[in-house]
Amino acid sequence: MSEAAVKVNPNAPTEEEVLSVQHYTDRLFKFRITRPPAFRFRSGEFVMIGLPGPKGKPILRAYSIASPSWDDTLEFFSIKVPDGPLTSMLCDIKPGDKVLLGKKPTGTLVHDALLPGKRLYMFSTGTGIAPFASVMRDPETYERFDQVILTHTCREVSELEYGKELEDGLKDDPLVGDMAPAKFVRYATCTREDYPFTGRITDLITSGKIFDDLGVPPLDPENDRVMICGSMDMIKDTKELCEKAGLEEGSNASPSTFVVERAFVG
Ligand code: A2P
Repeated sequence: MSEAAVKVNPNAPTEEEVLSVQHYTDRLFKFRITRPPAFRFRSGEFVMIGLPGPKGKPILRAYSIASPSWDDTLEFFSIKVPDGPLTSMLCDIKPGDKVLLGKKPTGTLVHDALLPGKRLYMFSTGTGIAPFASVMRDPETYERFDQVILTHTCREVSELEYGKELEDGLKDDPLVGDMAPAKFVRYATCTREDYPFTGRITDLITSGKIFDDLGVPPLDPENDRVMICGSMDMIKDTKELCEKAGLEEGSNASPSTFVVERAFVG
């Protein structure tokens, strides 16, 4: 075939280099890859990530980008599904390996989809914390809100480690280190082991315990804005509680008082 006949797909994923990998539990790990200069995204968005498949056809899955939009490199937080076509291979990546990065980040857990408010809640379970790892490290978050509350609920205590690391890192963060510590609160709860705070986020909202623990009033559509990311069931149940409190679901086209996205598994 002549060179002129080779068709280049402008939307084909790019090959990026793995810069670091950190395993938290036998189910959870984070990794960092190079960011192409032309790759633009808004903090909180997701993108397709993958590896070449056995027959040369790439295996791609949606992943929330965990690093903020200003970062030079891209971070991801992943679950390992033993039979998962992608994650069972992805969990073995090492620095220097290549992964595929899609070209079209998108998503609704973004500031553009929320109206201005006083307090931002980011309700997450499991790997649903990933988009909020991005939003909580974005200066815009602290410019827009007086208080920023990240809740993270996991089955086991060890699964909360990534969130703790993120919180600990805020004070030294080059861009949000000045603003974030005074505004940011992490509320971590565990459902299947002992921990200072226990229980599902839905139960803690229903009982009002989370608001008592944080010393804030219950959810209200005037002051509160909410982003939700977790399993389908968690989203459904948390969304119902937001609606009961008078909040309405927003989107990029029609910003409102809460937004949702499911945590992806591959
Ligand atoms: P639980 O241990 O009571 O099932 P998973 O790993 O299954 O996605 O769960 C992550 C966390 O989300 C767990 O702590 C789990 O609690 C919690 N969870 C599961 N389903 C819901 C739901 N419908 N609403 C709120 N939290 C949920």
